[in-house]
Formats: sequence, structure tokens, C-alpha cells
Amino acid sequence: MPSRSEIVARLRAAGCVFAEDEAALLLGAARDDDHLESMIARRVAGFPLEHVLGWADFSGVRVAVTDGVFVPRHRTELLTTTARTLVRPGHTVLDLCCGTGVLGLVVVRDVTPVRLVASDVDPAAVECARRNLAPLTEEVFCGDLFAPLPADLRGTVDLLLANVPYVPTAEIAYLPEEFRVHEARAALDGGADGLDVLRRLAAEAPGWLAPDGALLTEVGVVQADPAHEILSSAGLHPRTVSDTETFVVVASLP
Ligand SMILES: C[S@@+](CC[C@H](N)C(=O)[O-])C[C@H]1O[C@@H](n2cnc3c(N)ncnc32)[C@H](O)[C@@H]1O
Repeated sequence: MPSRSEIVARLRAAGCVFAEDEAALLLGAARDDDHLESMIARRVAGFPLEHVLGWADFSGVRVAVTDGVFVPRHRTELLTTTARTLVRPGHTVLDLCCGTGVLGLVVVRDVTPVRLVASDVDPAAVECARRNLAPLTEEVFCGDLFAPLPADLRGTVDLLLANVPYVPTAEIAYLPEEFRVHEARAALDGGADGLDVLRRLAAEAPGWLAPDGALLTEVGVVQADPAHEILSSAGLHPRTVSDTETFVVVASLP
């Protein structure tokens, strides 16, 4: 087995900024020498640390994340902390474009009873979400936006969590290689202005929300105003919550 300092040196040479921390995580996760070597090789080749380990931590929760699936970003904690101020026992929570399913998991983790429904277009993400959400729900669906959801959900969704892809197509080339190469394109690409998926979501969302329901979505700073226009045109009332790096738009029925 390579020593810790050898692993650190290999990771550092490959450009890993937090080589010491990563070496400790890889050593802790290794089942045997071969497994350790294959993890180091994958990390040196540029795979995201979370794909190498097979898990990601988000808001104190650890979820499975497999190759190609979007790695939850810490900036999205603004969306989940905002949603946690709104969620109540008896609510129905829909995590659309769920990826690993971690947003729904974090929002409802200590609230009961809650109906949690999740869906994503990517079968690999759905498989992860099914594993991660198994203790809470079996309602994890695969398909385009609302298409795979059960009809009885219409008009009942109290919280619609929707971290849809919002990177403008032309900006994908400037993302770190970890994400650009190793996450599914569909998890990132939001079309010319980054808001194409939000437009499609907004057009259908009012029909799925409960009378007091709200949709929460994350956008980039220059997208906040256009996102408001999109959601207002769809008949929703938007407001923005922000911190230093994240903008979350909360849109409710009038
Ligand atoms: C930015 S990631 C967010 C994942 C997860 N909610 C999170 O925050 O970690 C966007 C997700 O949307 C999914 N997606 C993209 N287009 C979709 C569509 N038309 N219908 C359903 N899911 C879609 C992608 O597969 C990806 O998992």
C-alpha cells in the first residue's frame, strides 16, 4: 500500500488542491490495495472526488453518487434551508430534477408525515436517488420533468424543489473539467441563456402546486430578473432569497 505522503504527492502533482484531505479520505475508503490504487488512478485522471469515493456529503447527510451523476454543490444549501422554513408535517414535497435526491432528503429528513416524490430524466441519477431515498419513499420516477409523475399528484405539491440545469450552453466550456467532463451534459446545460428548462418547468408547475404551494429554484446572479419574468408569466408570484454566492427564487401561486 502506498504511504500517505506518496498519495499526497501523486494527488498534488495531478492538481488536487486539498491533496492531504483527499488522501485521508481515499485511505479511509480503501477496501484493499487494489481498490486504493484504482481510486488514486481515477482521481489523478480527473474524476470528481465524490465519484471516486461513491458518496457526497451535503448538509450533514451522506448520499450515494455514481459516475456521471451531478455532485450536490454546497451553494445549494440556500435552497434547502429556505425550503426547511416552509415545510410542514402533512406536506407533499416534489424534488424534480432530483439527481442524487439529496435536496428532498435534507428538506424532509425530520418532518413526518410527508409525501416525498422525486424524479429525474437520467436513469443513473434515478438509480442513485432510489438508493438514497429508500428509507423515505418508493416514489422515484424516471422521465422528462412532470411526464413520469402519478396523476394524483396534480394540485397537491406544497413544495416543488427544482434545481434544474441553468448553465448557459456557451459557458459550459469554462466549467472545471471535473464537472464538464464527468457530469452528464443534461445535468448542466440550460440552453442559450441557461433558462430553457426553467421555462418548461414554469409552464407546467402551477397545475401541480397545491393552493398554497411554492416552487424553489436556484439561478445564477444575472438570471434572477429573467427568472422572475418567466415565473410571473406562468402565473406565479416570485421573490428572491440570496446570500453571497447563490440566488434562490421562491415562486408561489397568487
Ligand atoms: C443541476 S442538477 C441538480 C441535481 C440535484 N437536484 C442537486 O441539486 O444535487 C440537474 C438535474 O436535472 C436533471 N434533468 C435535466 N433535464 C431534465 C428534464 N428535462 N427532466 C428531468 N430531469 C432533468 C439532470 O439529469 C440532473 O440530475
